[in-house]
Amino acid sequence: MAVALIVAAGSGERLGADKPKAFVEVGGKPLLLWSLHVLAGVAAIERIAVALPPGQEVLPDCGPVDCQLVAVPGGRTRSESVSLALAAVGPGDPVLIHDAARPLVSAQLIEAVLAAVAEEGVDAAIAASSVTDTIKLARPDGTVVKTLDRASLWAVQTPQVFDRAALERALDVGPDVLAQATDDAWLVERAGGTVTVVPAPPENLKVTTPLDLRVAEGLLAGRGRA
Ligand code: CTP
Ligand code: MG
Repeated sequence: MAVALIVAAGSGERLGADKPKAFVEVGGKPLLLWSLHVLAGVAAIERIAVALPPGQEVLPDCGPVDCQLVAVPGGRTRSESVSLALAAVGPGDPVLIHDAARPLVSAQLIEAVLAAVAEEGVDAAIAASSVTDTIKLARPDGTVVKTLDRASLWAVQTPQVFDRAALERALDVGPDVLAQATDDAWLVERAGGTVTVVPAPPENLKVTTPLDLRVAEGLLAGRGRA
């Protein structure tokens, strides 16, 4: 059976709210609970460990869920929070990792990413959306060096699903490397592992700024009516 980690220990500096981002109310409940409820409803996931921010030792009241929950204090960096949650989650393979900051994740996307690891024999499968903007490489002074081929570019999201042994090997690095990682798949890539992309909708956005929060609020309200 699979286990899942939700990393929710960030402070949400760019959002600038009066509490950690995962605890900010969106559409009537804390941001964290939107993805927690979706993950808990996926039959293949038997246990979820949530990395919590300093000063928040307990999960917000999430009502009855069909899944075991474990709360753990997070770390100073995202990767440290992942390592601490992995150590706390107990047995289970593969391991799904999700950012609490992505409340619009769907059960369908989770199942597609789990299926990719099971069927393709890769070390990791990651949700990502195709890029719609033209992307250019520029020097620090703004001079354009070249235009990249958009067809082969992906904007990476979570959920990301890992073969457990491959993830544990990838995380077994010094704190300087962990601090550089903006996603977990990068750690698997640099350890020589195989990673595949699973197409995901851009709606699975990450709440980073106050504008993102307003967009997420609107999309979540629409989902409630659907
Ligand atoms: N995260 C975490 N532990 C940390 C830092 C981040 O668990 N030490 C989590 C966040 O809670 C979030 C996810 O990693 O769910 C993605 O990080 P990000 O969107 O950058 O959230 P914050 O770090 O909270 O925001 P900011 O960088 O604006 O402070
Ligand atoms: Mg951050």
